[in-house]
Amino acid sequence: MDKILILDFGSQTTALISRRIRDLAVYTEIIPGDASLTPEVLTGVRGIILSGSPESVYTPHGAIPDQKLYTCGLPLLGICYGLQRMTSDLGGLVEPLPRREYGGVTVQVDLPSAGLPDQTLRFFTGFDHALPLSSIIAGCPGPSRRNGADTRFTFTAWMSHGDTLTRLAPGFREYGRSSTGFPAVTVHESQPWFGLQFHPEVSHCERGRELLAAFVFGICGCAAEWTMERYFEKLSRSLAEQVGTSPVLLLISGGVDSTVAGALLLKTLDPEQVHLMYMDTGLMRKDETLTVTASLKRLGARHLHIILCAAEFFSALKGLKASEAKRKVIGDLFIRIQEREVSRLGLPEQYFLAQGTLYTDLIESGKGIGAKAHLIKSHHNVGSPLVDAKRQAGRLIEPLDKLYKDEVRSLGRFLGVDEAVIRRHPFPGPGLAVRILGEVTREKCDLLREADAIYIEELKRRRSPGGECSLYDEIWQAFAVLLPIRSVGVAGDVRQYGQVLALRAVTSADGMSADVYPFPLKDLLEIATRITNTVKDIGRVTYDISSKPPATIEWE
Ligand code: XMP
Repeated sequence: MDKILILDFGSQTTALISRRIRDLAVYTEIIPGDASLTPEVLTGVRGIILSGSPESVYTPHGAIPDQKLYTCGLPLLGICYGLQRMTSDLGGLVEPLPRREYGGVTVQVDLPSAGLPDQTLRFFTGFDHALPLSSIIAGCPGPSRRNGADTRFTFTAWMSHGDTLTRLAPGFREYGRSSTGFPAVTVHESQPWFGLQFHPEVSHCERGRELLAAFVFGICGCAAEWTMERYFEKLSRSLAEQVGTSPVLLLISGGVDSTVAGALLLKTLDPEQVHLMYMDTGLMRKDETLTVTASLKRLGARHLHIILCAAEFFSALKGLKASEAKRKVIGDLFIRIQEREVSRLGLPEQYFLAQGTLYTDLIESGKGIGAKAHLIKSHHNVGSPLVDAKRQAGRLIEPLDKLYKDEVRSLGRFLGVDEAVIRRHPFPGPGLAVRILGEVTREKCDLLREADAIYIEELKRRRSPGGECSLYDEIWQAFAVLLPIRSVGVAGDVRQYGQVLALRAVTSADGMSADVYPFPLKDLLEIATRITNTVKDIGRVTYDISSKPPATIEWE
């Protein structure tokens, strides 16, 4: 399968470059900027993108790419630092700007009426407002020309840089300049090497998708063949080869990732080989264990080990009020029970351990994987001694580690996972314990579960203001939080103290930042009324109107 390799120099937007190209149905891989470009790494690669970076090419901290980059014959696209890196490596000069340039900047591209090589013309299809994305994907040979005159494109690019090219590397020519007077688009005269000072991967960059498509299709000649069906076929073959007839144990949390990983193992291997373990900690959402069991059974699970361990969790949490103390106790107990139960299963020594780690879990947020090649999810499953031991023994399987969340959802659909599971909002590892402020008890969990279930049921039942989907599907994450205060109210003629519940609903792309969901007031009022009318102990409902930052999504 055709592949675009992305050398990561630590930019915040490296993952976004990859995301945008996968949206064009082309497979991408991100590797550290200084990774060795061995024949193995370059197998299937049709082009290489050099990412941005918080570093400067003239400071000692920046990663230096394997210089085979410039002799391997593959098309290169340098983005921001990536362009500066190429310039510096190939004999040009990069120097600091008097003032950092950030945000939308006008760029003007001027093409001569004749004399441009074909490949340069194909690259410039991305800038031509007259060309739709579909023509660029189809490999349009060049921008539209008006009567042989020079062609000029002006558009708003998105910049974030503190350095600029003060001398181009030999063989490069400038075709575009920012309104602030700096080189913005450079192309080599004879090699397939291209450079953009701005970030086409950022959604505010005009023609950004088209520019990436022009490189990927027009220059690299990639085929749009990255589909979940293809991925599934490839994955099935490699999983079957790797695992052979050994048993595989998958730790299931009930969320989308582990359920899809379970579906994948059940479809790819003999279901008799596949052991699924799920722990009911008592801190789950209403009917979670029933839902998880039913959906995995429907997918053909034969060995489903449900560990009922709520009593152990409630006893360990007794008297604990501070959020960090609760998280630590939950994490430690989770690992202890998991190890105990796994050894109880009596699986042979050579069993494989599987988990639903995603591509984004491997990318250290903010620093990029160039800074740390294989960072793992900060989830209590991942850092356990059991997982570490299996990783070291080469018996850890992470079949989703090349996928983004929305790709996992597509794979889940392809594998026949219930739509309700696929669309389920994220749920934190420590569960309701971080949604009950202060001490956690079974009674408080039961109360919160009831109120939360009503809230979620209402969101699923109600249409979004635009009417395209349910409120639940429009919201990224919604849940109820039980506050550690009581407030006064009246029941009949009697003064009564009730518990206070906070409702939270946010929109987000990835949970890193989030906006408050602007509910129609009518919906909020009706939902709150139903909760206070149904759940006896809740006397008051509030709505959390804090975005992230400064607040976090969860309350603890
Ligand atoms: P915050 O509260 O940090 O949450 O804004 C961002 C996203 O992460 C989830 N979250 C967790 N997930 N273990 C998890 O597996 C945790 O300890 C944890 N804390 C928060 C949260 O639900 C949201 O989706």
